[in-house]
Amino acid sequence: MIEVKNLSKDYKLKHKEPGLKGAVKGLFKPGFETVHAVKDLSFEIGEGEIVGFIGPNGAGKSTTIKMMSGILTPDKGSVLINGEDITKHRKTVVRNIGVVFGQRTQLNWDLRLGESFELLKHIYQIKQDEYDKTLDELDAILGIKELLNKPVRQMSLGQRVKGDLVASMLHSPKVLFLDEPTIGLDVSSKYALRKFIKEINALRKTTVILTTHDLGDIQELCERIIIINHGEMMEDGNLSEIVDRIAPYKTLVVEFYDEEAPEIEKCEMTEHTGNIAKYKFMKNETTAAEIIAHLSKVKTIKDVSIEETGIDDIIRVAYTLM
Ligand SMILES: Nc1ncnc2c1ncn2[C@@H]1O[C@H](COP(=O)(O)OP(=O)(O)OP(=O)(O)O)[C@@H](O)[C@H]1O
Ligand SMILES: [Mg+2]
Repeated sequence: MIEVKNLSKDYKLKHKEPGLKGAVKGLFKPGFETVHAVKDLSFEIGEGEIVGFIGPNGAGKSTTIKMMSGILTPDKGSVLINGEDITKHRKTVVRNIGVVFGQRTQLNWDLRLGESFELLKHIYQIKQDEYDKTLDELDAILGIKELLNKPVRQMSLGQRVKGDLVASMLHSPKVLFLDEPTIGLDVSSKYALRKFIKEINALRKTTVILTTHDLGDIQELCERIIIINHGEMMEDGNLSEIVDRIAPYKTLVVEFYDEEAPEIEKCEMTEHTGNIAKYKFMKNETTAAEIIAHLSKVKTIKDVSIEETGIDDIIRVAYTLM
């Protein structure tokens, strides 16, 4: 579905030396500083996958998304969507993709939402019956129709992002690129957006590439993640496999009736405050049930819970390894 081969992009920035002297010098002999934003990235994404594209600020995620969606031209390498090169067949490829940037909008500030949609209908030459059907379908997931008469300028962030999502799906693209779609959204809007992504993926087999700093989005939506840093590929694989490899442990949180907490074999007590103790254990060495059984022999347990190693731990570990 999507083949990214040896993709690279540099940004050239004018480098100005400080002070008046530097400014004058820069006029005659401007220096340039090169930022290697994306370096030799290659990966493939199959139809119907939802892939989380993650990495710290400045890693090159947005730059990659922009090249994959035809907004930026790569310096080197290629992006094929359904076998077609995005730079060579831009017009046809763009019909197959939708893009949403959480921080920017493709809607027209001066129009009502419905008018913005109508405009897209004409641009993409979507037939009326198809347009109506798609809008009904998207409305059932996101509840967009009540917003159609609202001027885009007056919409809240959450409403605007919903509008952008619908706008990006009106022409029924096979691939949807989402760059930080949940940024700044409240919990219920975030929930609506995740539901939307899941449902269009299930209903239409839409392939989704999602960048986000919200690890909940990743956990909820993505079986596969790609981690990049400094423009380079760090990890590409199944989320739970990467989690198991990078952080092969869990923590059992035990509440006792008093403040005494016993040490137990095959696990490490990592915290002990008041009646509560935390036991960290390797998933391949023992199980929570085994630890509970050992503890119950020596003390009465009031309550237990398990802290799964969160994806946030993975990111922390992965980022610091870089
Ligand atoms: N238009 C631009 N001109 C010059 N440099 C740029 C431009 N856009 C991005 N960069 C630089 O390229 C690098 C990658 O930026 P990019 O926006 O792709 O990162 P990102 O992974 O999306 O980060 P974030 O998580 O903060 O959105 C950064 O060093 C950034 O400063
Ligand atoms: Mg970005």
